[in-house]
Amino acid sequence: MSDNHTTAPGFSHEKVETNNFLMIVLILLVVAVGGLVEIVPLFFQKTTTQAIEGLKPYTALQLAGRDIYQREGCYNCHSQMIRPFRAETLRYGHYSVAGEFVYDHPFQWGSKRTGPDLQRVGGKYSDEWHRIHLNNPRDVVPESNMPAYPWLDKNMVDAAAMPAHMRALRSVGVPYSDAEIAGAAEAVKGKTELEALIAYLQMMGRALKS
Ligand code: HEC
Repeated sequence: MSDNHTTAPGFSHEKVETNNFLMIVLILLVVAVGGLVEIVPLFFQKTTTQAIEGLKPYTALQLAGRDIYQREGCYNCHSQMIRPFRAETLRYGHYSVAGEFVYDHPFQWGSKRTGPDLQRVGGKYSDEWHRIHLNNPRDVVPESNMPAYPWLDKNMVDAAAMPAHMRALRSVGVPYSDAEIAGAAEAVKGKTELEALIAYLQMMGRALKS
């Protein structure tokens, strides 16, 4: 009887398949190499690490609005990520590019679209439209199933929290000046959460809006 085993002497695949430890080590090695090959080049590509021209860090008021966007969970129904497909760019405008998000900590890309993508919503409607819409969406879009946020008009922005918030963002690379941080509390004093959220919505995607 002939033996059909053709494995080179000294190496047997069986050794890997029957040894959990060896299998785990080799899997980790393969995944690590595969991951690094994809991830490392991104750190050296300017298009992924540098802000696009015209992109500015959020003002104190816009930043406060962005916090409210996160607190209220708007990202559960709205993405901020326009994919480079014709159907998307026709509906929403220029597709998203990495350089638009370098000051976003954390990103609000999202993946669930119960409502439309919001990345280029800045300037699409008036402040007044947003005020009515956020108070009760059905007043402007009768068939809307978006929740109402009537309390935003009554709550004031937490002005005292803003300087520390901006300092924290500066430590991760957002170029806020000392003067901007010092004036942050004053800049949002007396503003409602609704005003802050609208300020944020109105600047969204403007740096690349065609
Ligand atoms: C339960 C899902 C849901 C949540 C949560 C939600 N939305 Fe919406 N949103 C929708 C739907 C659906 C629409 C489309 C109908 C309409 O315009 O009201 C919409 C529309 C919008 C629009 C108009 C977009 C356009 O291009 O016409 C804006 C702006 C908006 N939402 C902002 C927000 C903000 C800000 C929050 C958080 C405070 C929020 N949404 C939370 C579902 C949601």
